[in-house]
Amino acid sequence: MNVRKAVVPVAGLGTRFLPATKAIPKEMLTVVDRPTIQYIVEEIVASGIKEVVLVTASGKSAIENHFDYSFELETFLAQKGKMDLLREVRHISGLIEVVSIRQKEPLGLGHAIKVTEPVIGNEPFVVVLGDDMVDATVPCVFQMLKVFDKFQKSVVAIQKVPLDEAHRYGIVEGEEVAEGVYKVERLIEKPSPGTSKSDLAIIGRYVLSPDIYSCLNRTLPGVGGEIQLTDALDYLRKKQGLYAYKFKGNRYDAGDKMGYLQATVNYALAHSDLGERFKAYLQKLVANLDE
Ligand code: G1P
Repeated sequence: MNVRKAVVPVAGLGTRFLPATKAIPKEMLTVVDRPTIQYIVEEIVASGIKEVVLVTASGKSAIENHFDYSFELETFLAQKGKMDLLREVRHISGLIEVVSIRQKEPLGLGHAIKVTEPVIGNEPFVVVLGDDMVDATVPCVFQMLKVFDKFQKSVVAIQKVPLDEAHRYGIVEGEEVAEGVYKVERLIEKPSPGTSKSDLAIIGRYVLSPDIYSCLNRTLPGVGGEIQLTDALDYLRKKQGLYAYKFKGNRYDAGDKMGYLQATVNYALAHSDLGERFKAYLQKLVANLDE
């Protein structure tokens, strides 16, 4: 079945980025010239998805505004003849259909997905976490959809991480059945050190069967007292099987200060206008550091 919708949870408080995120959503923090959420939505659009479902909370209206028309701004730009800028802002609002649904209580990622059932209904869908920016030649969501098409089962994105960092992620254990594709045998959200030997960490991209909703309904609060998507995925695995896919591309944790800086450097170097100048600047900077 065709996958048409992508859920992007954006209700989190962004505490890792305080005080920057006191009055603006973390998803609106800029990497070079676009808020991080725009990179996420552009990946979704480039993967052929037709609708984005934002799971929001109070204080997040800037995200909805970013993807909406801005009559005042567009009229102003048109009157001033600033056609390049006008095209740029129209491009954003024309990207994709965006609908929002509220997560009324911060009960965890699993809960954020659970509240989308009325807008997703009975069809497979994608989940993309805004903190995980993936720079890839083939959009990561598109790669995941290919695996979903082939195996006809839900798929989670994974990457290898150093074992001493495994406790920061959802971890999968499983057997490689095709290049980069694992049949999942167990999932553990943020395992305590020593409880799993696997270094395969879940990265924020999922293609899910709608059966995840019944699994979420029976999921009790887990790590951190939150309803964990990973725990519901373990039920889904038992019920109908689950695959994990080691995607091709570089992932940046934009919800973390270091990851955000790395993303900024990466996307600045790749930027069509700035790339060359920024590279020259970095080379000079590094040379001076070595002196
Ligand atoms: C969430 C998921 C976790 C996954 C991670 C990827 O955790 O619960 O399984 O590994 O995203 O970024 P969070 O980072 O929200 O704590």
